[in-house]
Amino acid sequence: MATSAAGPVVIIGSGIIGQGWAMLFASGGLKVKLYDIEQQKITNSLENIRKEMKSLEQLGSLKGALSAPQQLSLISGCWDLREAVEGAIHIQECVPEDLELKRKVFAQLDLLAGDDVVLASSTSCLLPSRLFAGLAHVRQCIVAHPVNPPYYIPLVELVPHPQTAPSTVDRTYALMQKIGQSPVRVLKEIDGFALNRLQYAVIGEAWRLVQEGIVSPGDLDLVMSNGLGLRYAFLGPLETMHLNAEEAGRIGDSDMELCWTLRPRQRLP
Ligand code: NAI
Repeated sequence: MATSAAGPVVIIGSGIIGQGWAMLFASGGLKVKLYDIEQQKITNSLENIRKEMKSLEQLGSLKGALSAPQQLSLISGCWDLREAVEGAIHIQECVPEDLELKRKVFAQLDLLAGDDVVLASSTSCLLPSRLFAGLAHVRQCIVAHPVNPPYYIPLVELVPHPQTAPSTVDRTYALMQKIGQSPVRVLKEIDGFALNRLQYAVIGEAWRLVQEGIVSPGDLDLVMSNGLGLRYAFLGPLETMHLNAEEAGRIGDSDMELCWTLRPRQRLP
């Protein structure tokens, strides 16, 4: 973990996700500039971050090698977009999930950005081809989708525009690792990226089981919170199938038939 300040990283939008990113980048020893269109929101966000970091430090849960005051000293508010962006190595957009608003913000950044800064969006579901269409700096653009709350859930989905330079993906990947996150490369853009596609597959099946009277809503949630979720906290579905008992393939629907072909090795408890 870095102990000397580098950067700056710029956060555009100081809401829930912007604050989470600011704390993460500071935990990695990076200077952070927090920008928002509403000055009061920046003031409030800096205060939230101060309280949160102090509390995390008291609980022994603060990330990174620096103390809370050291990390806080790396984060500053900025009310001028041009000034915020100057010399930035990475800009993380965190404005509300509205395509036109985000396109407007990226059009502004496109005019201000140099040729060496990564322009990343936190969008949960907007496709890069729509978000970054027509930008002069499209090679430097990428979706870096965090999971809420990003300070506690390390996954970041990296989704490039078809014209994003491989070096942009590599740089963002390395930056995410530097701040202790777990980046994954989504190789082609697709609605829902990877996490939400998996999530909605689970939600869809949950509804089906409840609607068909197979299990109560409360018990359905227990299946996940006291069962499958505990396993999936440390083992992915493909690893699970690799380790699963051979009998798992006898359930007989098409997904299980597919799992059968993976030649499971050993029984899970
Ligand atoms: P939020 O509503 O908490 O914060 C948005 C902030 O952007 C506000 O402070 C607002 O004043 C500011 N803003 C609005 N227009 C702006 C502009 N033109 N320039 C600069 N700042 C502007 O939103 P939240 O929840 O932090 O979400 C931000 C992004 O992160 C969205 O794209 C969302 O989809 C994504 N995301 C959200 C997650 C969540 O669970 N909240 C999870 C993962 C991604």
